[in-house]
Amino acid sequence: MAKRKALHVCSSCGHQESKWLGQCPACGEWNTLEEQLALQDGPGPLLHGLTAPRQSSLLSRIEAPTSARLSTGIGELDRALGGGLMEGSTVLIGGEPGIGKSTLLLQAAASVQRSTGQAGGPVLYVSGEESPAQIRQRADRLEVSGAHLHLLCTAHMEIIREELARLKPRLVIVDSVQTMIAPEAGAVPGTINQIKTVTHELAEWSRTRGSQVILVAHVTKEGQIAGPKVVEHLVDAVLLFEQSGSDLRFLRATKNRFGAIEEVGIFTMEHRGLEELTDPGRVFLGPDRTHPPAGVVAAPCYEGSRVLVVEIQALTVPAKGGVSRTFSDRIDNRRVSRVAAVLEKHLGVSFSDQDIYVNVAGGIRIQDVAIDLPLAVALFSARQGKELPRGVLATGELSLAGEVRPVSHRAQRIKAAEEMGFLRLVGPPGGSGQSGGSAQKAGQISWIEAPRIAQAIRQAFSSEP
Ligand code: TYD
Ligand code: MG
Repeated sequence: MAKRKALHVCSSCGHQESKWLGQCPACGEWNTLEEQLALQDGPGPLLHGLTAPRQSSLLSRIEAPTSARLSTGIGELDRALGGGLMEGSTVLIGGEPGIGKSTLLLQAAASVQRSTGQAGGPVLYVSGEESPAQIRQRADRLEVSGAHLHLLCTAHMEIIREELARLKPRLVIVDSVQTMIAPEAGAVPGTINQIKTVTHELAEWSRTRGSQVILVAHVTKEGQIAGPKVVEHLVDAVLLFEQSGSDLRFLRATKNRFGAIEEVGIFTMEHRGLEELTDPGRVFLGPDRTHPPAGVVAAPCYEGSRVLVVEIQALTVPAKGGVSRTFSDRIDNRRVSRVAAVLEKHLGVSFSDQDIYVNVAGGIRIQDVAIDLPLAVALFSARQGKELPRGVLATGELSLAGEVRPVSHRAQRIKAAEEMGFLRLVGPPGGSGQSGGSAQKAGQISWIEAPRIAQAIRQAFSSEP
């Protein structure tokens, strides 16, 4: 066995130092370095006896995997995973306590078991947080039978190892990684060393067996995943479960070795567990969705692999004390400030003496760069107190020079906007070299080409169809 040495690990960012320091040199936090035992070299105990090859082989001689995916039976979870659970993979699902991680995974475990039976091995749900009676109670509430679902309530890795060897499960859910104790990593659960040891061992186990492991991780309110952050590199995918101001819950991949990371699964929590959102079009738009008041603009956003038409709300009020501030937690603050600066420069609308508030209906976080133009229209509308004519929405990225840049997935954006009853979509020129506000009819909706911000604003507020 490799010799262990003392190590000081920052509980905030996971940075390691050989000696104790008052301030972490990596993240600047004070008093966060804790003494821990260093991780052992080599595989964890689950892998003793399984020898890795000691010689290299030619890449072309290596058999390509069949890359089978296992559907969890929950469409929105499969979507966030990039199409289901990959064979041999380990997925970390993080979220605040109470958001619904245990509920989602019990539903997923039961559904996998129901659809695959015993084929490929049983499903094992390990809980270090709840008693069998509590889990049974939740299963009754969710109306899942669990006839073939194996439940193990323990926090001890030695017991889990034995059960994995005995049961040979195809899917293992560990709820949560912070409660598990591997004896060789100390006696206290939840330390960085423990979380690393447990994650490393289970990830290696799933990789060598071709099974699947889902690890639950708690994330604090501030979004600091002190523990789980340090194991992101050990797992294949990281999904974060977030709650908006409303009762919507978003499951978003922040890392995925086998799929896109922009995918978002959307759920609501009902009295019988998490339900998938079947009609995401409706919840992100206000009541009079094609004719909103001043400061509100709809935008077709490409999130993951689908277009969601969302409503952006902007409000500007005179800045207090002469210092203007931006408050936006669903769209990046810096993006809002940049778009306001572009409007100020190219349209002469002043924002530098204003406080800016931006919100997105339904509370979804928007990362699509094509949010720039609708954001500009919303800010302009709010600042001028001018509402948009009925049926208008916008899409496009903005350059600092005031150009409206092309968007991806144009056809899908047009289709989604049309389905919601919109009539005119203001966006970038369509690559045909045309410029100057020409319109193309696509069914009921017209695509209005605007190469620059000034033309886009003029077209958006024009009352002519
Ligand atoms: P839970 O899955 O225990 O959250 P986590 O594992 O992330 O801590 O779910 C927590 C909340 O969900 C709890 O407050 C009760 C609520 N809930 C429902 O509203 N409906 C249900 O069917 C279930 C099972 C839970
Ligand atoms: Mg839980």
